[in-house]
Amino acid sequence: MKIRHTIMALPGYHPGKKIPGALKLSSNENPLGPSPKALEAYCQVAHELHRYPDGAGTDLVRALARVHSLDPTNFILGNGSDEILNFAAGLVLEPGFRVVTAKETFSQYRFASLIFGGVIDEIVLTPEGKYDLVQIGQRVRETKAPLVFFCNPNNPTGTWYTHDEVLQFLGTLPESTLVVLDEAYGEYAEDPKFPRSRELIEKFSNLLVTRTFSKIYGIAALRVGYGFGNPSLIENVKRLKSPFNINSPALTAATVALDDEDFVRRSLETNRAGKSRLMGLFDQLKFPYFQTQGNFLCVHTGALGIAGSTAYTFLAERGLTIRDLASFGLPEHIRITIGTNEDNDLVEKLFRELVASLGTRV
Ligand SMILES: Cc1ncc(COP(=O)(O)O)c(C=O)c1O
Repeated sequence: MKIRHTIMALPGYHPGKKIPGALKLSSNENPLGPSPKALEAYCQVAHELHRYPDGAGTDLVRALARVHSLDPTNFILGNGSDEILNFAAGLVLEPGFRVVTAKETFSQYRFASLIFGGVIDEIVLTPEGKYDLVQIGQRVRETKAPLVFFCNPNNPTGTWYTHDEVLQFLGTLPESTLVVLDEAYGEYAEDPKFPRSRELIEKFSNLLVTRTFSKIYGIAALRVGYGFGNPSLIENVKRLKSPFNINSPALTAATVALDDEDFVRRSLETNRAGKSRLMGLFDQLKFPYFQTQGNFLCVHTGALGIAGSTAYTFLAERGLTIRDLASFGLPEHIRITIGTNEDNDLVEKLFRELVASLGTRV
């Protein structure tokens, strides 16, 4: 069998590691667990497992349309937002076509592009840890790239662009370029200037915004994400969707999670408090970090002379897993999910021990 060389060259995904018994703050999951309402609804639909799911996800799409003040025709559901990223690449890429994104960003953009034979153009982040929108725009215009992936807030740095900045950037791109604006952490963004993506899709018919139920709604295991955009774009994206890409318990749980306002509020409060505590800790320990609008912090361990992998090993041996960012192109940084106050007691204890262990090296 002759396997396509682009497939053989795929690097493979490096998931956030899970060590039995350790506190896992490596995959930006919700530290409060799943939405309790979603969990209850999920258990209740078990007796329907012999039925195929509603392939159109009618109830969930209606609920999304209500929450975003849009029409159901603006939405497509995916088996995680990962699947929507694949749909986007499959929609516009012929082998050899260019895709422009950042270098230090979510790895699935590379994966989605490579499986369709795309050639990925990765632009290094600015010193502030942000997508270099000027360079990206230039590269798109030079190469006539049909696809851009833009992570906002960016995983792994947490850095973000405002509504006006994104609006301005989109205005510089050709209408023939599909832009995927990945807002997996959008629900955590509390800056009032964070993009109002509904307004953006109404203005730009080449924009596909993606979101997920894996983060603030706490149902990562169920794999539900969605994209929204102009109805004619969405109609075309749906051509790539298999008939039953989301299972019924997941559809039910996501529909209920969307209305679990109490859980979302508690998740935001936990994140806000945890973020401020961790920023205070890293300030004290003299570890620089990027300002974040996500549920994670990206910390520069290199400032204290240690690689991210060294910090990873030290913490993992003591019962805490965080994300070493070498595979993201940031070998001197780590990413840590913001946990509960109790989680952060352990984070604080172990980071203090880590710094103490550096002794005279600091
Ligand atoms: C930026 C970003 N986009 C998309 C995803 C994928 O989310 P999902 O679980 O919906 O596939 C993640 C998951 O970590 C992410 O960090």
